[in-house]
Amino acid sequence: MSTSVIRTTGYTASTEAPFIQEMAEITHHMWTLGWDELNGGNVSYLLDEEEVSKYINVGQTLRSLDLAFPVKELAGKYFIVTGSGKYFRNVIKDPEGNLGVVRVSASGEQVDILWGLREGARPTSELASHFMSHIERLKVDPTHRIVLHTHATNVIAMTFTHDLDELKFTKTLWQMCTECLVVFPDGVGILPWIVPGSNEIGRETAKKMQEQRVVIWPHHGIFGTGSTMDSTFGLIETVEKAANVYNLIGGREIKQVITDHQLDDLARAFGVTPKAGILEL
Ligand code: 13P
Ligand code: ZN
Repeated sequence: MSTSVIRTTGYTASTEAPFIQEMAEITHHMWTLGWDELNGGNVSYLLDEEEVSKYINVGQTLRSLDLAFPVKELAGKYFIVTGSGKYFRNVIKDPEGNLGVVRVSASGEQVDILWGLREGARPTSELASHFMSHIERLKVDPTHRIVLHTHATNVIAMTFTHDLDELKFTKTLWQMCTECLVVFPDGVGILPWIVPGSNEIGRETAKKMQEQRVVIWPHHGIFGTGSTMDSTFGLIETVEKAANVYNLIGGREIKQVITDHQLDDLARAFGVTPKAGILEL
């Protein structure tokens, strides 16, 4: 990434922060995959105060923004987020203009902007889905850190041609590549079509996140969650790969499949528990 850095007295150059570099790298990578056209996609990453304060003055709030959805459960927590309307393509050349480090206020009704989001930029319009999903995933996985939303091309295409029943959709994905069941035994959740950027889609996405790490928004994209950028991206990449295979088959005659018994053997061999109600044994 660019070597231009901003030095603040007493702090290491902020753009050298590993979490800023991780955000720049992953957004660039997803853009090169063609998943994040225009301002499509958004990322939020839960950070430790200790890590943030090595690079950013956490005692200085640049400005505060009201949240339309109070998130008391996240009070005092730090996140790095992508900005609303910002292009993934541009993050790598200008992290400070396209990303922001924010802290949720004690009341959970505001976020304090501590770094970035220059010139009045705001956090992603999907902040409700991100924050509410963080809340639900942290309840079931204390190592959870990342929510990643992207317009993965093949996943979107598959939501036009496949039944949107999430058990049927999950089974088809598992059948497309052998590793799928091992990577997402918890399956994928699917919402009905809902207006994006709304509190409603945030609540519904988070509800699905109670039981799985992936939620698909039909005709729009995918949300994935995880503990690290690698595992979260890898999860989405695996779902997208399976959707790609499904689209390549493209309705042509299928001559053989991975059977339910083979999927069960796979689950046993890798010590994973497939989501209930999918395999018929
Ligand atoms: P933002 O630019 O506000 O993050 O929105 C992009 C997007 O993908 C909406 O779903
Ligand atoms: Zn989107």
